[in-house]
Formats: sequence, structure tokens, C-alpha cells
Amino acid sequence: MEAAAIVLAAGAGTRMKSKKPKVAHEVLGKPLVRWVVDAAHEVGIEHVVCVVGHAREQVIPLVEHDTQVVVQAEQRGTADAVAACKDALAGFDGSLVVLSGDCPLITSDTIRSLVDMREKSGAAVVVLTMQPEDPFGYGRIVRDGGGSVARIVEQKDATPEEAALTECNSGFYCFDSQALFQALDQVSSNNAQSEFYLTDVLEICRTAGRSVLAMRCDDPDECLGVNSRIQLAEAAKHLQRRINQAHMAAGVTMTDPDQVWIGPDVVIDQDVELLPQTFLLGTTRVGEDSVVGPNSRLTDTVVGRGCVVDETVAVEACIDDGATCGPRAYLRPGAHLCEGAKAGTHVEIKKSTVGKGSKVPHLSYIGDCTIGEGVNIGAGSITCNYDGVHKHATTIGDGAFVGSDTMLVAPVNVGAHAVVGAGSTITRDVSEGALGLGRARQTEIPDWATKHFGAQKG
Ligand code: UD1
Ligand code: CA
Repeated sequence: MEAAAIVLAAGAGTRMKSKKPKVAHEVLGKPLVRWVVDAAHEVGIEHVVCVVGHAREQVIPLVEHDTQVVVQAEQRGTADAVAACKDALAGFDGSLVVLSGDCPLITSDTIRSLVDMREKSGAAVVVLTMQPEDPFGYGRIVRDGGGSVARIVEQKDATPEEAALTECNSGFYCFDSQALFQALDQVSSNNAQSEFYLTDVLEICRTAGRSVLAMRCDDPDECLGVNSRIQLAEAAKHLQRRINQAHMAAGVTMTDPDQVWIGPDVVIDQDVELLPQTFLLGTTRVGEDSVVGPNSRLTDTVVGRGCVVDETVAVEACIDDGATCGPRAYLRPGAHLCEGAKAGTHVEIKKSTVGKGSKVPHLSYIGDCTIGEGVNIGAGSITCNYDGVHKHATTIGDGAFVGSDTMLVAPVNVGAHAVVGAGSTITRDVSEGALGLGRARQTEIPDWATKHFGAQKG
């Protein structure tokens, strides 16, 4: 698309009561400003200019890779913020969309409609308007006797009659870029907040004989601005619902969608079932027929087909087809459960591969370890991978059987089809097919207990 966009993200957001700038606050793992920038890119707008100011060292890293960053050193109002983009857009002549960096619910469809309407009508500006339940705080759309948009009046400048108007400015616009930058020169700060209001551009354009139009947004939620933590939670609820409904429409079952939180970049195949208290975040993907939850949080994790992921926390893990984990498994970065493998209850796995069909069923820690196929790791077994300074590797060959409560002191190898006796502390390699035992030999004192307790009772 030929259009360009400006995203306003320089404000402090004092009502957030935060050391973090408002637009850096996240919803479903994605900063507010990213939701807006991504919506613009989704429309096909390539040239996006992001205006940063307050705490910009925290905002710039979020946007500099795919937008042009402009600094508004002092926050003197929305018109001043747009004026700061004049040089960045000097060679541009066309539809210029202005978006608020604190409105994460805006959709690409709405942005596209704004641009289409302006281009078809040739208007100087099309403003997106809405009818919120409580209009307090928003700029009001003042229409003339003929019903055309005359101007926008801010809450703090409104007369009681104007304050009673219910049609509000959403803060989203599509401008004719030339008309906008000409009009900006005429905006003054002669108002209740001594700020340069972008909204004044509408009246200036109209006075200059250009047409100024409004497009009504059917869904006021789409224009919800985040000014407080309460609104942040509201925005999260709306986005949760929007994302979950899209997945359900595509064939995903959710027992209780209110209790499932899915990030915007998560991919879920058909016939996946998500149980309550499930969080799928980052670049997580879940394959066909898998069941995730309850009480599971997967971040940047890939789950194959037909897996069962029960009460599991996984970060940067890979769970292949037919593998099962939990209840209460913790898969840390680099954990890889191969096809049909199992990480059971109270099992923690880090930077390790559990081969095809291998099982780590109970109470184990497996770190820096390569486990072959068809291996069984007995309950309570642990790879002692850390000597206090360095991490060391363990390998366990195909078909090996490690008895319960084994300490594998790395670096160490257990050969294929070897057996390790329960309760062993293995400090040396166990050869292929051998039995490794590393424990005190059991002794027996005949009749000791009978005599001992007999004497006490006697
Ligand atoms: C603005 C509109 C109001 C509209 C409302 C919708 C103006 C004057 N008013 O009011 O009509 O109903 O949005 O949400 O435009 N910003 C900067 N630099 C500045 C000032 C603001 O980048 O100097 C950014 C803010 O970070 C924010 C956006 O512009 O992302 C809107 O600013 P804000 O102060 O929230 O405007 P509102 O008072 O909400
Ligand atoms: Ca606002």
C-alpha cells in the first residue's frame, strides 16, 4: 500500500504509575506499541514512523528494527508530535495514517477502511469516531447543521453542551499528508492544556475549504486507549477473546476460553484441546490432536501431534509427536522429547534430548544429557551436571536401564543396553551391556532386631 503511518508513542502515561513508559507495557507478551505497528504493517504500510520521547531508551529497541524512529524531545501535544515527523516524511505525498501507540486493539481492517475512504473521497482527513459507553475524557466530534464534521473539542475545553455530545474522537486518522503538514503550521497552543492539539487540524482544513470526514467505528472496543493499569487489563481481556475466538473458529477446543491465554504469534493446529489455565506464549506451536493443560505454560515451545502436555511449564522446548509430559514437568531451554518420549511427574529437563520412546517418569533432574532410544530412567535419578564451576555432559545409550535413585556424576557415559543398579552413584563410564553398581554392599546381622527390641521390652 502506498500509504505511510505515524505511530504516536512519546507520552509518559503518568496514570500507569510506572517507571516503564506506557507503550512498553505488554499485553499477551507483546508491548502496546508493537500491536499498533504490527497492525499498520499488516495493512501493507511499509513506511511507519514512530514518535518516541518519554523514556525513549525503553521504547526505541521495541520499534527501531521495522520503523523509522523520530524523537519528540518535549511532549507538547499530539500536533507537535506529528510535526516532529515532517523531515522523515518530506518526500511523501499521499495518505498518511496517524495512530496512537496506546490503542492495541486497532485492526488492520479498520486502518484499511480509513485509507480507502480518504482516497475515494479525496478528503483532507478522515477521522475514526466512536460512541463509547462513557465519553468522558475523549475529544468530542462537533458537527455543523448539515451534519458535517466541523471540529473536535477536547474534554477540558468543552462547554457543557459540547461535553454532552456522545460521538468521540478515537485518535485514529487518515490525512492527506500535504494538507496535514500545511495545517500544522497554524495550530496554536491556546487551549486549556496549553498543548498543540492534532485535533485542531480538522477545523483548519475545513476553513481552508477542504473536506473533513468521519468514519464511525462500529466496535468502540477497538479504540480502547490504555491510560491506566485497569485499561491495560481490559485491553488484555479483549485481545484474549479475539484471539481465542479465531482459534476456536479454526477448530481448537477450549473448555473455558476465559482461562486460556494465547499470544498473537502462537500457531495451533486443528483438533487441539486446551484445558483451563493454559498459557501459550511467544512463538509456541501446537500440532494436531494434542491436549495441553490444565495449568500449563508454554513459551517458545514446539509441540507435535498427539501429545499430552499436562500441568507443564516449558520454555524453548521441543515436544515431538506422541510425547507426553507432566503432570508437573518443567522443560527448560533445549529440552527435546523425541517421538513418544515421556517426561513425567516432578521431572525437570534442561538442554537434553530424551530419545524416541524413552521415559523419565518420576522425580528426576536431567541436564546436559543425551538419552538414546528406549531408555528407562528410574524414579529419583539425577544427572549431577554441575561441579560448581562447569557444566558436564552425560550420555545414556539406546535401551539402557537406569535404576531408581541413581546419581550420574558427569561427565559420564552409560553404554547401550547397560543396566545401572538402583541407588548407584555412577562416577565412571558403564560399558555397553554391562551392569554398573555404585553403592555400599548390604550386610545383615541375624536376629539383631529381635534381640534389640526384645531386650528393651523385657
Ligand atoms: C487524544 C485526542 C482526543 C482523543 C483521544 C483518543 C488530542 C489533542 N486529543 O487525547 O481527541 O479522543 O486521544 O484516545 O489529540 N503523544 C505524543 N506526544 C505528545 C502528546 C501525546 O507522542 O506530545 C502521544 C501519546 O503517547 C499517545 C497519543 O499521542 O500515544 C495520544 O496522546 P494522549 O495524551 O493520550 O491524548 P488524549 O488526551 O488521550
Ligand atoms: Ca490517550
